[in-house]
Amino acid sequence: MNTYAIIGGTGLTRLDGLVIRNAELVETPYGPTSSALLYGKYAGRDVMFLARHGHPHRIPPHAVNYRANIWALRQAGADRVVAVNAVGAINDSLVTGQFCVPDQIIDYTWGRNHTFFEGDLEQVTHVDFSQPYDADLRRRLIAAAAAHGFTCQSHGVYGCTQGPRLETVAEIRRMARDGCDLVGMTGMPEAALAREIGLDYACLALVVNPAAGRSSGIITMRQIEQALADGMERTRKVLARVLTV
Ligand code: HPA
Repeated sequence: MNTYAIIGGTGLTRLDGLVIRNAELVETPYGPTSSALLYGKYAGRDVMFLARHGHPHRIPPHAVNYRANIWALRQAGADRVVAVNAVGAINDSLVTGQFCVPDQIIDYTWGRNHTFFEGDLEQVTHVDFSQPYDADLRRRLIAAAAAHGFTCQSHGVYGCTQGPRLETVAEIRRMARDGCDLVGMTGMPEAALAREIGLDYACLALVVNPAAGRSSGIITMRQIEQALADGMERTRKVLARVLTV
């Protein structure tokens, strides 16, 4: 039986319906986690939950302590992590409100603490990251969304930018040329750290806006917040389904 953890992103700083048994503030070798690690039952299944940006939402993407979060989940016994990420759509086939379970990543971030393999090492380690997400967990997420009849694109390249500002039109054009389908600010180094530490990890991305230049107007927080509010109930349903199948 797998032990699941959910990392909630923007719009999911708490998991309504989670019956909390215990909340633990974890100190790690890398410092504190973004929020208390919640242990509880969701959809009748044991699960851990961590709010990536803190609860309430206060930590911007570039300042999240990804190493502490991933280390704490592993230490607590998780072996599968579902990461929820709000994203902008670069590929025109993706529309606001729909899900995507990406299968690839391009990392445009810089200056983040992105590895556990540094410092006083006995040997240099290079983990394989050809397929950055766990195939089985991806399949489960796609099936869970389909079971509810939710539109969900079953592949896509997640381009991770540094933030906290949104991208320029030219940056998005370049990302499109690179092959990115979606853009977010939190997918990395989280996914790579999960791989380094041996956690099966996949991303459930919720599209909350067309990326810069992909629609006629500018991107507003109001638009993003509205899409998040509309999408979170569906997100919770997908998560509940994934845990129970
Ligand atoms: N860019 C980067 N991150 C995002 C976006 C975006 O347009 N929307 C939601 N997260």
